[in-house]
Amino acid sequence: MDSGNKSRRGLKICCACTAVIIAILIVTSVILYFTMLKPKQPITIAHPVTLQRIEFGLFPALRLNITLGLVVTIKNRNYGSFAYKDTTTYISYRGGLVAEAPITGDKIQSRGKLNVTTSVEIIADRLIINPNFWMDVNAGSFNFSSSTTLKGRVNAFNILKTDATAQSMCDITVYIKAGFANSTCYSKLKM
Ligand SMILES: *[C@@H]1O[C@H](CO)[C@@H](O)[C@H](O)[C@H]1NC(C)=O
Ligand SMILES: *[C@@H]1O[C@H](CO)[C@@H](O)[C@H](O)[C@H]1NC(C)=O
Ligand SMILES: *[C@@H]1O[C@H](CO)[C@@H](O)[C@H](O)[C@H]1NC(C)=O
Ligand SMILES: *[C@@H]1O[C@H](CO)[C@@H](O)[C@H](O)[C@H]1NC(C)=O
Repeated sequence: MDSGNKSRRGLKICCACTAVIIAILIVTSVILYFTMLKPKQPITIAHPVTLQRIEFGLFPALRLNITLGLVVTIKNRNYGSFAYKDTTTYISYRGGLVAEAPITGDKIQSRGKLNVTTSVEIIADRLIINPNFWMDVNAGSFNFSSSTTLKGRVNAFNILKTDATAQSMCDITVYIKAGFANSTCYSKLKM
């Protein structure tokens, strides 16, 4: 009877210990998940758009060649890599698509940063069909908007793989005479 009580007590202690260890393991895993493993959205920081080149002339014929430089810093906050696919930067003018430039896919290491740079050439042909083109020439500036969407995957230790999308958009004003560009950029994130 005495030994039976003892062994039952021993069993109780053993159960309690196991329960505590399991609880600790669960809490640790949950903390680990939320602090390290949980996939986080990459952060995009768009830098001011630069006017790399502007060529504008009316005589003897309309000549227009605007080259814009776009730089977006992608910050990967994950303890895992973020790989994105080939994509395209689109430039529109008064709602119509006027230029595009390819971006090659790449991989950003765990907690790393990468600058994605693009150079987009805009030529007259696609602007001149807009009925407001000459009005903007008179006003001395063109407004463009750019849009870049990076689609990819976050991979944490090959355990957790999540789709992630980083988007960056800019409203750009190009001043023809001053040969200067101003921009306002914003980012959008989606998981
Ligand atoms: C526009 O400028 C770029 C860069 O200098 C040049 O490569 C391209 O040929 C030009 N395009 C036109 C249509 O003049
Ligand atoms: C990315 O570009 C920005 C602006 O041009 C620059 O300040 C920064 O140092 C660059 N970062 C990297 C990692 O190349
Ligand atoms: C161009 O953009 C600027 C800045 O966003 C704005 O103030 C201006 O009204 C726009 N011009 C046209 C013609 O849309
Ligand atoms: C360009 O943008 C900056 C900041 O928004 C503003 O202070 C400046 O006046 C703008 N320049 C022109 C020429 O519009």
